[in-house]
Amino acid sequence: MNLQRSKALQRKSHALIPAGCHTYAKGDDQYPERAPAFLAKGKGCHVWDLDGNEFIEYGMGLRAVTLGHAYPPVVEAAYRQMLLGDNFTRPSPLEIETAEELLSLIPGAEMVKFAKNGSDVTTAAVKLARAYTGRDLVAVCAEHPFFSVDDWFIGSTSMASGIPLPVRSLTVKFHYNDIASVESLFEEHRGEIACIILEAESTELPINNFLHELQRLCKKNGALLILDEMITGFRWHNGGAQAFYGIGPDLSTFGKAMGNGFSISALLGKREIMELGGLYHDKERVFLLSTTHGAENHSLAAALETIRIYQQQPVVEHLYRQGERLAKGVNSAIAENGLQDYFQLAGKPCNLIYITRDQDKNRSQAFRTLFLQEVIKRGVIAPSLVVSFSHTEQDIDRTIEVIGESLNVYRKALAEGVDKHLVGRPVKPVFRPFN
Ligand SMILES: Cc1ncc(COP(=O)(O)O)c(C=O)c1O
Repeated sequence: MNLQRSKALQRKSHALIPAGCHTYAKGDDQYPERAPAFLAKGKGCHVWDLDGNEFIEYGMGLRAVTLGHAYPPVVEAAYRQMLLGDNFTRPSPLEIETAEELLSLIPGAEMVKFAKNGSDVTTAAVKLARAYTGRDLVAVCAEHPFFSVDDWFIGSTSMASGIPLPVRSLTVKFHYNDIASVESLFEEHRGEIACIILEAESTELPINNFLHELQRLCKKNGALLILDEMITGFRWHNGGAQAFYGIGPDLSTFGKAMGNGFSISALLGKREIMELGGLYHDKERVFLLSTTHGAENHSLAAALETIRIYQQQPVVEHLYRQGERLAKGVNSAIAENGLQDYFQLAGKPCNLIYITRDQDKNRSQAFRTLFLQEVIKRGVIAPSLVVSFSHTEQDIDRTIEVIGESLNVYRKALAEGVDKHLVGRPVKPVFRPFN
């Protein structure tokens, strides 16, 4: 594969931009040496790099692009709005129309506030919970990789440089599916926890009625339950994981797929809590999400169109169906290569990931890198195996072939040593090590 132009620009990028790009998960430390460093164009689930190489892509735009790249109805809706103006001195009626449309999908949510990024809205949810409860501590799920770029979350990770210790000490952790770990947090910090925040489901299924038990404990202890639906939203179900599991959180946050790649996110929740950010109450007002570009018109138009497409077309069904087809084919390839203990699929069909293990069956970044290297060489970029509405059966079947061939190399590397097959250093992701 010719990567000449990509590689030349890659050298330049690090001289101009710390880490060479603006999204952690797109960084060079997340991809093998032999990978396209820049993608110049996308259509559906296909992308082209700077050197003209074509790939089938998975997990597109960090799971933001669920319909497909350059999806015509969404692009056209955004463009029509751009021609009418993108940002006025007073709000646009689109804000109300999009709010109504989104709320109609999410049972139990009564009010919504739009923003640009997932981080903005999870941070706003935490701020609102602190204001509503008058408490400072935030309890986050230890197994869930990412909630926000802001200090309350990053301060609790291994990349906490620059975040004051007093801020770090305000975030505590519980374990998914371990209700006892939540009970002991509430006991240890009696009357101090403002909220519990988690994804309803990541790669592990909730068991023993975990989500409803969590809600019961939050109520009992006067804390709010916040569901982060950045990934589950517009994927598990049109109404998000909260509709899928029949759970009514106090607050929830959406982003990513909601605008099919356009920058838009939303904080939703119960009126009594959300109204603290409003004008018509006699309590102290919460400064809830105000930015210059907050309700940028073309992103709202893109979100409105995306939501309508979800309502009119079987998007979610397609994600499950193609994910199932992919999982079936990949599981056969795993079995053919005798790799059941070394390469595994995890997660829902609509959000498939893979786990790589070394010859001792320990999780391995070197083997993850090798797998990525081999699929990329054959025309598939798969940091995860998350499909979109644009992945056709042909794309899925080609991917299964590519994965089969790559697992053949994987099997040889288990016997001969990964170094013999890997070009360059292993990847070292901090936040989503196994995607
Ligand atoms: C579950 C979850 N919450 C929040 C975020 C933050 O969203 P954003 O990157 O749009 O700020 C992410 C981003 O990956 C995420 O996966």
